[in-house]
Amino acid sequence: MASAPHHDLKLGTTLDETARQDFVATLRGFVLNDMAGDMSQVYEQDVKPRATREMGHEPATASEVHKAMRPNLTFKMYSSMRVNTQEMVWDSVREAVQREVPVWRPRLKQAGAKGPGTLHLNPDLEIPRSVSAIDVHLLPGNYDSEHGPEDASQGVWFDHGSAVFYMGLLGPDQGDIGRSISTFIKTKYPDFSPDKILDLGCTIGQNTLPWAQTYPDAEVHAIDVGAPVLRYAHARANALGVGVHWHQMNASSLDFEDETFDVVWSSMFWHEVPIKDIRKAFKEAYRVLKPGGLMLHMELPPNSTLSAYDGFYLDWDSWYNMEPFYKSFRDQDPKALCVEAGFPADGFAQYVVPSVNWFGEEATKQAVDEQGKFDQNTGRFANGISWYSFGAWKPE
Ligand SMILES: C[S@@+](CC[C@H](N)C(=O)[O-])C[C@H]1O[C@@H](n2cnc3c(N)ncnc32)[C@H](O)[C@@H]1O
Repeated sequence: MASAPHHDLKLGTTLDETARQDFVATLRGFVLNDMAGDMSQVYEQDVKPRATREMGHEPATASEVHKAMRPNLTFKMYSSMRVNTQEMVWDSVREAVQREVPVWRPRLKQAGAKGPGTLHLNPDLEIPRSVSAIDVHLLPGNYDSEHGPEDASQGVWFDHGSAVFYMGLLGPDQGDIGRSISTFIKTKYPDFSPDKILDLGCTIGQNTLPWAQTYPDAEVHAIDVGAPVLRYAHARANALGVGVHWHQMNASSLDFEDETFDVVWSSMFWHEVPIKDIRKAFKEAYRVLKPGGLMLHMELPPNSTLSAYDGFYLDWDSWYNMEPFYKSFRDQDPKALCVEAGFPADGFAQYVVPSVNWFGEEATKQAVDEQGKFDQNTGRFANGISWYSFGAWKPE
């Protein structure tokens, strides 16, 4: 089932639209759970033995598995269904976003004006081509297109589409990633009490707000290059009564002073960024962190931690879902990225955190002793998901 946003900016939808959104979410669940399960059996029983005979060895990398799977009918069926359901996700809310403009625009304006957060846009910011030139995960117009002055359509669309896309896995406010990981960090490091937190590539801020809620005394800032998503993030946070300072900024060139933040966080960000920009942004994260601060990124798990088949399964988006940087990011060694940015090797940390929404808060808290325990649902949008995160502590 889709889980419609629970805040005052929620779109009015017709009964037909709600039914359609539920159908699409359920169909996506079928593709990602049932069809994906069948596909992995077909690989084990049919494709792998055949490829092993032909290649003279078992497919050893994600790319070799992909090559072996491409002619397979089950794979073609799975891929067609996944691409189609992805397009259906955005389609299922498009009409409501457009129809409801006269309703949501004044509401957004009102929520934006009332605080407690602030919004700082920079019309001169050059939007990186990795955002301006493509429609990531097939969202028409991506995060940055504006359809008139002060437009926020892409943010409204992203919020409501995400509720369908995640099939209810992330809870009513879509904040499960931020909630699970901030809860985990607070439980694991009870003496760590950040005063200032920064979120990079925040989009509409659904995984920013949980940090502000977990650490209510902290000042929270969030950046993104997309003006429409930031306008919506600002209004949405205000509508939910959470104060965050939103900035239009490039993560590879931050305007903040050195040693400003205790936490530099991001969620689902780097797999959409070219590797040369990631390297710059990690150095920026190091620069703006205070000594003793934590850089922490929730991301898809690296290929090196997965079997060749699981690597192939996660790389799928790179080939078929307009995510051109997905694979190049996941081929990196997360520890090497942190060390290259200036962090000491012994400051590196990685965590696998059970989803609060799926397992409950107690399970997340109890997992604090089980760092880096990967399983087949780590980072995979399936029932029983757990979140991978990595980063590093800056020395005192
Ligand atoms: C997948 S979304 C992030 C999702 C969000 N953090 C979440 O938790 O769901 C990627 C976001 O990064 C932004 N972005 C891409 N390149 C960027 C850059 N160089 N600096 C800042 N934001 C960037 C995009 O505009 C987009 O909003």
